[in-house]
Formats: sequence, structure tokens, C-alpha cells
Amino acid sequence: VISRTHRALIAVAAGLLALPVLAASAAPKKPAKPAAGKGDPKAGLVAFKNEGCGGCHKTKDNPDAAGPDFSTIGATKKPAEIAAYARKPKAGSTMPAFKGPQKTLDNIVAYLMTQK
Ligand code: HEC
Repeated sequence: VISRTHRALIAVAAGLLALPVLAASAAPKKPAKPAAGKGDPKAGLVAFKNEGCGGCHKTKDNPDAAGPDFSTIGATKKPAEIAAYARKPKAGSTMPAFKGPQKTLDNIVAYLMTQK
């Protein structure tokens, strides 16, 4: 027969065992990676213009371009998709492949992710 004291002790022991588990699950999670990735959006806007993207693509900061409108691209595309297309546009595209440094492309992608 388990006495009332025993039950109380068991309850306390169970509580102590559960404590570290609860503490671990309550620990703050690692901050989520920003959607823009590793690039710098400000440098990206400069590069977007310098690398010629702005000659074709319209954005909120570049409203006069006649080509595909990127003023909401950050809401519909993933950074990896934008980077991949910039490196390798579809066959027959008038768009030139971007052949510059990865860092520059990261910045352009980060800039485009601000267009929502
Ligand atoms: C000569 C004009 C031109 C230039 C310069 C240009 N693009 Fe494009 N881009 C296009 C056109 C047109 C499309 C539409 C699809 C196609 O024909 O390739 C496009 C499509 C894209 C897409 C795919 C968008 C989607 O909705 O899937 C991305 C991403 C892109 N361009 C990024 C860039 C970046 C970054 C640069 C600068 C490094 C750049 N483009 C420079 C004309 C251009």
C-alpha cells in the first residue's frame, strides 16, 4: 500500500525530474535567419543600379524601368530563386547572366527582398 506521504514524495520527485525538461523547452529559440539572407540591402540597391539590373527591372526606388516589375518580388520569390535566376536566366532571355562576385549578388538579393 502506498501511503499519502509516499504519494507526495513521488509527486515531488516527478516534479523535480520534469523541471530540467520544462526549462529546456522554455529556453529561447535561436533567432530565425532574416529572410533577406546574408547580403546588405543598401549596398544591394547601389549594385542593382551599377550592375545594370535597374536598366530593365522596375523597383520602388527605380520606377522608370520598362522591364519586369520587381516592386513586390520580395513577397513572392525566395532569395535562392532570385540568385539562381540572376546567375542563369532562362534560355533565350534578353537578360544577361550576372557574372560578378557572390557578395555583390547577395547584396542585390537582399535589396530585392525589401521589395514587398
Ligand atoms: C536587358 C534587360 C535585363 C537586365 C539588365 C536584367 N534583367 Fe532580369 N529579367 C529581364 C527579363 C526580360 C526577365 C523576364 C524573364 C526573362 O525573359 O528572362 C527577367 C527576369 C529576372 C528574374 C526572374 C524573375 C521572376 O519573376 O522569376 C530575376 C530574379 C532577375 N531578372 C534578376 C535580375 C538581376 C539581379 C539583374 C542584374 C544583375 C537583372 N535581372 C538584369 C531582363 C533583364
